[in-house]
This record gives sequence, C-alpha cells and structure tokens, in this order.
Amino acid sequence: MARDKLVFFRNGVRTELSDVDPNETLLDYLRLRERSTGTKEGCNEGDCGACTVALGRVRGGKLTYEPVNACIQLLGQVDGADIITVDDLAEGETLHPVQVAMVEEHGSQCGFCTPGIVMSLFTLWHSGRNADRDAINEYLSGNLCRCTGYRPIADAAMKAASVKAKDALDKRLAETQKEIARLGNGEDLFVGSDDRFFAAPATVKSLAELAAKHPDATILAGSTDVGLWVTKQLRDLPKIIHVGRAKGFSDVKTNTSKIVIGAGATYSEAFDALAEIDPDIRSVLLRIGSRQVRASGTVGGNIANGSPIGDMPPMLIALDASLELNHGGEIRTMGLEDFFIDYGKQDRKPGELVSKVIVPRLKKRDRFRAYKISKRFDQDISAIMFAARVTVSGDRIVSARIACGGMAATPKRAKHAEAALAGARLSDESDWQRAIAALDQDYAPISDMRASADYRTKVVKNLLLKALGEIAADEGGGGEAMRVTAAQGATAAGAETARRAGA
Ligand SMILES: Cc1cc2nc3c(=O)[nH]c(=O)nc-3n(C[C@H](O)[C@H](O)[C@H](O)COP(=O)(O)OP(=O)(O)OC[C@H]3O[C@@H](n4cnc5c(N)ncnc54)[C@H](O)[C@@H]3O)c2cc1C
Ligand code: FES
Ligand code: FES
Repeated sequence: MARDKLVFFRNGVRTELSDVDPNETLLDYLRLRERSTGTKEGCNEGDCGACTVALGRVRGGKLTYEPVNACIQLLGQVDGADIITVDDLAEGETLHPVQVAMVEEHGSQCGFCTPGIVMSLFTLWHSGRNADRDAINEYLSGNLCRCTGYRPIADAAMKAASVKAKDALDKRLAETQKEIARLGNGEDLFVGSDDRFFAAPATVKSLAELAAKHPDATILAGSTDVGLWVTKQLRDLPKIIHVGRAKGFSDVKTNTSKIVIGAGATYSEAFDALAEIDPDIRSVLLRIGSRQVRASGTVGGNIANGSPIGDMPPMLIALDASLELNHGGEIRTMGLEDFFIDYGKQDRKPGELVSKVIVPRLKKRDRFRAYKISKRFDQDISAIMFAARVTVSGDRIVSARIACGGMAATPKRAKHAEAALAGARLSDESDWQRAIAALDQDYAPISDMRASADYRTKVVKNLLLKALGEIAADEGGGGEAMRVTAAQGATAAGAETARRAGA
C-alpha cells in the first residue's frame, strides 16, 4: 500500500499534505498556502535565484543543505526533505550571522534579490567550505543582483564565515536527521488518483513498473527542465512520476575502469566522480547552470531531454559512454550517441526509463579536452559544447573521438575529423589542418539567438586547434614555432599545463 500523503519538514517541523496537485510548485506552496512571503518570485524559471531556499536531504549518511530554486521545484519533490526559507533564519529578534553581515556590509539596496542571496550564503555557511572568493562566486552564480553589486555581498559572505557560532539549524540537525531517517521506510508515494497524481516510488522495481503502466506520465528527475514546462509554457502535466526517491537509482559507483552514474544522480552528487576523470570536465560542470540548478538537475535528465545543446552528452559521447534503459524491468544498453536519433527524437519507448550512464575512464594514452562556449560564464546555455578524447602514441595520434553540441540537431560526433586525425602527427600542424577542414563535412550548423552558423563553424574549428595545440604542448611534441602558430591553443597550453600540474 503506497503512502498517499506528502511528508516533509518545514524548518524541522514535520508536515503532512494530502491535497497536492502534481503541478504545484514549492514556491507557490510557500507563498500562497503558507504565506511565507519572504521568498520572492522573480523570473519563475530558475535563472535569478530570488526564490532560493535551502533543502536538506541525507547525502552519504549526512543531512546536507543545498540551495534550490523553489520556483521550478515541484512540491512533491520535497517529500522526505527539510525546507528552510529566509523567514526561518532569525531567532526571535536576533538575525542569523549571514543576515547581520549583509546589513553591516550594505549587501542590499532594493532588496528583491536579498532573500535568495541570504539563502545561498546560508547554505555556504553550513557547507563547511572555506568561504574564499571561488566558493563565494560558485554559491552566488545563480543569484542575480541588479543594483547592489557583488562586492559588498561577497564581503558579507566572508564576514559571516568568520562567525563561529552555532545557529538554530546546528542545534536541531541530529534530531531532524533521525526524523528523516524514520521516513525512509521503503514505502512508495502516490498522491492523487489514477488519472491525476504525483508518484515517487521507493524502489527501482516499482518505479519501472509504474512508468511502464503509465506510458503517458511525465518522468520527473530534478525538474530543471520540466519545471519550466509548468511555469513558462503553462502546460498541465496530470501524471508525474518522480525518480528521486527510488533507492539505488541515484547511486554513483566507481571502479578503476569506469564510473556508473544512476540516472537520478544530481550534478552535485556525480560531481566528484566525473571531475576526477579530467580537469576539463570539472571546469564544465562548474559552469552548468548555477549551484541551485546543479543541486537538483541530473545527468540522466540532461540526456533524456534529448537537447542538442545539453552540456553533458558531448563530453560523455567523446568518452564513449553507454546508456542503460529500463522498461518495466526489461533492461537494454546502447552507446550514448545512438540514443540521439534526430531533433526531439530519442531511442526511448514511452514509459521507459533512462536508468544508468556508464562512463569509461581515460586510459594511460588518452588525452581529453572539453570547452563550453556561451555568452556568460555562469548560468548560460551553450552556443557550442566541444569535447574530444585523443589517444596518442609518441608523436602520433592513434585515434580520436570528437563530439559537439550546438552544431547539429543532436549532439553529434565529428567522424570525418576523427578519421583525418588517425595517424596524424602532433608535431605537424598541416596534419591538424586536414582534420580541421574536415569539420566542414561533419557539421552544417544553423543560426539562432545564441550564435550564427558562421560563428559556430569558425569557433568549432578554433576549438579543435586549441585542443590539439594543448595536447601537443603537453606531450612536448613539435617545436616552439609550431606551438606559437597554434593560436589560442598554444597560448592556452602553457597555462593549461600549469593548471593541470596544480600550479
Ligand atoms: C537556470 C537554468 C540553467 C541551466 N543551465 C544549463 C547548462 O548550463 N547546461 C545544460 O546542459 N543544461 C542547463 N539547464 C537545463 C537543465 O538543468 C538540464 O538539462 C538538467 O540536466 C535536466 O535535468 P533534470 O533532472 O532537472 O531533468 P527534468 O527536468 O526532471 O527532466 C528533463 C527531461 O528528461 C526526462 N527524464 C528525466 N529523467 C529521466 C529518466 N531517468 N528517464 C527518462 N526520462 C527522464 C523528463 O521527462 C524530461 O523530459 C539549465 C536549466 C535552468 C533552469
Ligand atoms: S524566481 Fe527566479 S530563480 Fe526562481
Ligand atoms: S539589491 Fe536590488 S537586485 Fe539586488
């Protein structure tokens, strides 16, 4: 028998709800039902951070609070979590150390962004991380302030970090964790009726069976795409099946040869394992959305949505990743590149789940490069995503796998360029130029609001040049003159080599 009530914690207080519409957002619940109006609605699409709240979930045995965009989280997703909003921070008349620092450092003018900024800094305060500029920038990447400017806000974050007091959350953390653990009793969640429901099965078996039984249902992972169908396209999604509670579905497992990412794993959960493959993957991951988007959005969702401009598929295809799918318990696997058939068309049956992504590690002779090109550094969708795995032997390229996003209707390999690179010399730029020219046979991009076709064509060629320049420099192949000719590649290579060496 499935549980028919949502159970979550509001600032540590157990809350039960049975009247939950599958499309209700967490922000609407907070503002319209609870009247917790400190949390603001700005863009209603995950971009501005005004709606940021802290969501506590048990991660790796520890109750951890992450910032999320309440505007695009569906209420059903918070089952089993503890929600803290800006209205909960002060203890009586005493402000939280983050709030005090924001006042003292003049971190607010019009104040519209301030509740969201306070909540992002609150999660940083609790993260145990050293609040240096990198950490602060990372935590503020999803919070747009249009009038104060970020320096006083960053100063406030640093000032708050120097306060070592225990806040109300610290005092109740162990108790809340115990309460949440009591909820994890393997019960499926099913709120609503057979034709309008929010369901969150507790096991992979019941998740797969329910999805197969309702092939017309929307599969929901982090809701960083689906949430916008509700808030921006005003679509009605009568049946929602959430993958986030199924035990094992979000596991990330690693061994010496591969990484297996459960499709429900968020970017934050998969971060360490993926970043360990190569520093470029780490750099790209840090530029996917914002801290809020990465705390909810999943690698599985980035693949299942079939977007030609998702950041993960090009990197995963270059790494020769494969995909596991589960249809009512029937499992099949395929190379990830074969999943993307055409624009908006993937090799997935209705009711079938993307269940795992299997990513081989780089071998000794493999070199990897990935570059994201977008107009803004943070919180922006790629115009082009380039990734390449190049296998070298001495001065020779043995083979290459190159995949790009934003260059075709699907994430697509550059097979002509790859063929031209097989046997090419790292020390001879004329060999590289043949591969660079071959990109014209691989891609015929379109112009859209993110970039023109000409820009895309030119930049993707420069990115291959940059990758080869960096790899050649790392291998010590080619003379200085050649490296200098390799434009950005050669210039970037020194810094890149130093970065990779940890300098
Ligand atoms: C502000 C903002 C910034 C963003 N920035 C980036 C960015 O920089 N780079 C980028 O690539 N993307 C970006 N995105 C898009 C989005 O965050 C990603 O595509 C994310 O990975 C989607 O994952 P999700 O778990 O939120 O998916 P959902 O929204 O839950 O689902 C997405 C799609 O996949 C399907 N689905 C999800 N899981 C499964 C499954 N296991 N099996 C079958 N189908 C499934 C859903 O039905 C839906 O069609 C951004 C989004 C926002 C709102
Ligand atoms: S209201 Fe802008 S991110 Fe939610
Ligand atoms: S204080 Fe006005 S938007 Fe930040």
